[in-house]
Amino acid sequence: MIKLPKKLPVSRHFSCFVINKLIRAEMINLLRTRRSVRKFTEQPIEPEKLEILKEAILRAPSSKNSNAGEYIFVDDQELIQKLAQSKPHGAAPLLTAQLAVVILVNESKTAAWIEDSSIASFVAHLAAHSLGLGSCWIQIRGREYSEGKMSEEYISELLNIPEGFRVLSIVAVGYAQRQHEGRPASELDFGKIHENGF
Ligand SMILES: Cc1cc2nc3c(=O)[nH]c(=O)nc-3n(C[C@H](O)[C@H](O)[C@H](O)COP(=O)(O)O)c2cc1C
Repeated sequence: MIKLPKKLPVSRHFSCFVINKLIRAEMINLLRTRRSVRKFTEQPIEPEKLEILKEAILRAPSSKNSNAGEYIFVDDQELIQKLAQSKPHGAAPLLTAQLAVVILVNESKTAAWIEDSSIASFVAHLAAHSLGLGSCWIQIRGREYSEGKMSEEYISELLNIPEGFRVLSIVAVGYAQRQHEGRPASELDFGKIHENGF
């Protein structure tokens, strides 16, 4: 809740109501305009935006408040190109990304590592969008680097990740090469929403 000064020209209650409405509108607008971005420009990400991304990700909720997530921010282009080789298909957005956020969870600290790291991945994705940046979730869990070698294993070796940590995803981030339109509301299937039972 935003703290308002005590003396307001209009009633405090009314102002809180208006501000809450605006905040909610902001969230729905982010969701309405969000898309996965797979091609980025060479424009570097401002350090202030990086700091906000870090803060956002650390604010992600976790099961039983385990806070077992850890996040590797990779801006070294050589390493990002190596991360783009993590799996044969679907990692191409990393080829032009300015930043790769590797989402890890210490599996020994939570039984809900998939949920925790999924939320952190989405928080990073949405926070990037709120900052005018594009991003794309790159699935790592369950994917193969090559026959007999999992993508997780390849990344753990590349980034010196200690044993016990699982890698769910990498979020590729940068400035979008082109404008992406949000999905029109007419594409939403409200028939999927059920009330008081299926
Ligand atoms: C769990 C999950 C895994 C995904 N993995 C990949 C991926 O490996 N590579 C990729 O290019 N996009 C990936 N995406 C992005 C989806 O393809 C994308 O969200 C979907 O096509 C809908 O498009 P939109 O995000 O633009 O609405 C993933 C998304 C989710 C939620």
